[in-house]
Amino acid sequence: MRLSCIIASNFLILLVSMLKSSSQEQVNIKRSDFPPDFLFGAATSAYQVEGAVLEDGRSLSNWDIFSHIEGNIADGSNAYIADDHYHRYLEDIEIMHSLGLTAYRFSISWSRILPRGRDGPVNKVAVQFYRNITYNLLTKGIHPFVTLFHFEYPQELEDRFGGWLSPLMQEEYLHFAEICFTYFGDQVKYWITINEPNLFSEMAYERANYPPARCSPPFGDCVSGNSDVEPLIVVHNMLLAHAKAAKLYRERFKSKVDGVLSIAVCAFMYVPMTDDEKGKAAADRALAFNVAWTLDPLVFGDYPPEMRSIHGPELPNFSAEERELLRDSIDFIGINHYGTLYAKDCTHSVCVCNISSCVQGSDRAIRGFTYTGGERDGVPIGERTGMARFFVVPRGMEQIVQYVKDRYNNKTMIITENGYASPGNEENDFVHDDKRIQYHQSYLAYLAQAMRKGADVQGYFVWSLIDNFEWASGYGPKFGLYHIDRPTLNRIPKNSACWYGDFLSNCSLVDASNIQSQYNEKENIVMCV
Ligand code: BGC
Repeated sequence: MRLSCIIASNFLILLVSMLKSSSQEQVNIKRSDFPPDFLFGAATSAYQVEGAVLEDGRSLSNWDIFSHIEGNIADGSNAYIADDHYHRYLEDIEIMHSLGLTAYRFSISWSRILPRGRDGPVNKVAVQFYRNITYNLLTKGIHPFVTLFHFEYPQELEDRFGGWLSPLMQEEYLHFAEICFTYFGDQVKYWITINEPNLFSEMAYERANYPPARCSPPFGDCVSGNSDVEPLIVVHNMLLAHAKAAKLYRERFKSKVDGVLSIAVCAFMYVPMTDDEKGKAAADRALAFNVAWTLDPLVFGDYPPEMRSIHGPELPNFSAEERELLRDSIDFIGINHYGTLYAKDCTHSVCVCNISSCVQGSDRAIRGFTYTGGERDGVPIGERTGMARFFVVPRGMEQIVQYVKDRYNNKTMIITENGYASPGNEENDFVHDDKRIQYHQSYLAYLAQAMRKGADVQGYFVWSLIDNFEWASGYGPKFGLYHIDRPTLNRIPKNSACWYGDFLSNCSLVDASNIQSQYNEKENIVMCV
């Protein structure tokens, strides 16, 4: 720990205990507020950082095809180079090491490992690439925390049989998972089988923001699709794909390193927009239709009763055998949490969506007849960020953890993503990202509070290690601890990177202005001072 850090932190601890935080957001959160073996990491995904899309035998993926079509990506960009992590992974691991991370969450590109799916051979160059990553992480004492499906797959699977809309995708996925468990199972202890089935199905099959961009009115105007039904089918196939992979893993691979696996669920917190019974019921429904939709089957073996009571036959059934396969098929719960939204009942009232933080179709069964959005009478629920639906509401972290704890009998949780998007146009002064520091400090404070109240949470990942390709938003919103200088692709630590490093060395600074990322002229690099 640096001397300046020790002095500053002691002074600030005193100051803060004197002020006794009028606002919970300013509590002095410290590394030592969490258990010593708590995982602190950062996350990325293959497609968002790797680039090298046409190198070493990788095939074209759903996102390569989608981003190539004009108008699909907000800034007209693509991820053909992205952060060039494919060639710079050693430098990136060095960065993680310098911050003191104990885990790194990344994903394995399906199109790289199995360019032709199960009809073709395993790409051994790709296997070597990911083994290089896991090996180098382990030598630095960083746990590899691997996601198998993070929104990207070979386009061929889409063209041949319609991707996740078809049950065939379950077998394709199972093969991909088996290959990954075979080649990486000796080095990887933590697995996320599928990232955010709920968000993926919504974005790709309800709102058409992600490939294959299918939808129907009132959600959007697409050439084909059915927004009321297809997201349900896609999640159904994903859940069964997960359950099959989990069974395989537990039978044949788990014992190698006593590994654990889960999915990561996109978990907004929802609070009532109106202070009445209907408002409360709407918030409960929003949680069930978004969060419990994927978690209930994996813990209890079936969709939430809240969904069964609203949906008709469009909500698929599981056979008795499938329910058995699904039940208890996760070892922990992966929570991706960014913000909180209001929820409003649309069963009995008219819901109009005319602001950017809500989505169309709130009066449909697929949305649980619930409107969700970030504003009430024009007033935002929390500070706005670079993503229309992500508002800064630190207390939501405690609330969502509490919800999951209560619903799933305090099953172990890991916060697999949490991050702050600065708006692209505010990034002129890109390294002085003090709002990001405040965001993480306050969300961590509420996480610690949930843990003090008994929640079994065992890890926390910042999204993201580096600024990256933010899907349909291109390179606009920036989540990284490190800025990527696009012309040179140099990694430049923002103040938040310096803060995270200091926090992890148990040097907790309330006043972020004490930590700066500064240009060092002599060495021609940007450093934390
Ligand atoms: C996804 C990430 C994405 C992040 C910010 C999550 O839903 O897993 O891939 O970059 O949100 O939008």
